[in-house]
Amino acid sequence: MLDFCGIALAHPIVNGSGTFDAIAARRAFGDELLDAFPFSAFVSKTITLRPRAGNPPPRLWEAQTGLINSIGLPNRGLRGYLEHDLPELARLPVPLITNVMGSTEAEVAELVEAIGARPEVAAIELNVSCPNVRTGLDIGANPESLAALMRAVRPLTGKPLIVKLTPNSADVAAVAVAAEAEGADAVSLINTIRAMALAPAGSGPWLGGGTGGLSGPAIRAVALAQVAAVARRVAIPIVGMGGVATAEHAKHLLLVGATVVAVGTESFRDPAAGNRIAEALKSLQIAESPSTPMNESEALVEVDVNSSNPRN
Ligand SMILES: Cc1cc2nc3c(=O)[nH]c(=O)nc-3n(C[C@H](O)[C@H](O)[C@H](O)COP(=O)(O)O)c2cc1C
Repeated sequence: MLDFCGIALAHPIVNGSGTFDAIAARRAFGDELLDAFPFSAFVSKTITLRPRAGNPPPRLWEAQTGLINSIGLPNRGLRGYLEHDLPELARLPVPLITNVMGSTEAEVAELVEAIGARPEVAAIELNVSCPNVRTGLDIGANPESLAALMRAVRPLTGKPLIVKLTPNSADVAAVAVAAEAEGADAVSLINTIRAMALAPAGSGPWLGGGTGGLSGPAIRAVALAQVAAVARRVAIPIVGMGGVATAEHAKHLLLVGATVVAVGTESFRDPAAGNRIAEALKSLQIAESPSTPMNESEALVEVDVNSSNPRN
């Protein structure tokens, strides 16, 4: 068992928020899904205080090596989540992490207080990084505004708070440092990178939301660099994600300092990817352990040669 913020996880592979609908999957695959659940914890899609319809279609663009989505966080809102989704998610055989996002500190505070009061929820992930919705990006892109948000919400729950950082920030590590200083229990990264696609014949943006977020293989190298940069500056656990499709990819994020790895876009291609990667990771680690002398800090030194961290 792996300890993540006091939560026992059977293995280091979880899902990326919004990329695996456990309720729909259970409807499709039945209770078999519970026996072979692909992740060691389930992270809900982002919920907001009030219901959201999401962005107008089209919502997806398949890029050459990834996916641009402009889903726009459709969800039932806090009340709908507590009434309809939470009882179903509580039946999953793994700890539940609820991901929340608000456009103001007061909204986030209400969400954190309400979700934090629910015994079914093991931890809360604060989405301050979604590029599809203006407000989240503004809070998460700036260390001072993130610190102010944390000061407002940290006292409202004793549950672990995971701050999901935005990759669309000038200095992601500085934001992570601010999150840690204000009591975050963990950080997660990376969220999607702001991206755009034009409709054929240049007739304007393809996506109904104008721009969207790029995910999948295209962002894996960025994720690796950002996780390594953050790992050098914080001591709290890191959930690393971005383009993970194999155990090797997961291992690379663990090597640069992640404690847990999330699988996102790959689950659309292979809904059992979580289990596949977790199993292969076990064999990889067993096979390599006797001959792999590199520890995490050695790996970091090797990878992050261009760090701008003045301490190095
Ligand atoms: C279709 C889609 C929906 C997503 N929805 C959310 C969301 O609701 N909240 C959130 O924090 N991240 C959301 N994400 C971001 C993922 O959780 C993850 O951070 C990102 O996709 C990078 O991982 P990946 O390359 O493995 O997909 C979404 C990503 C995709 C592709």
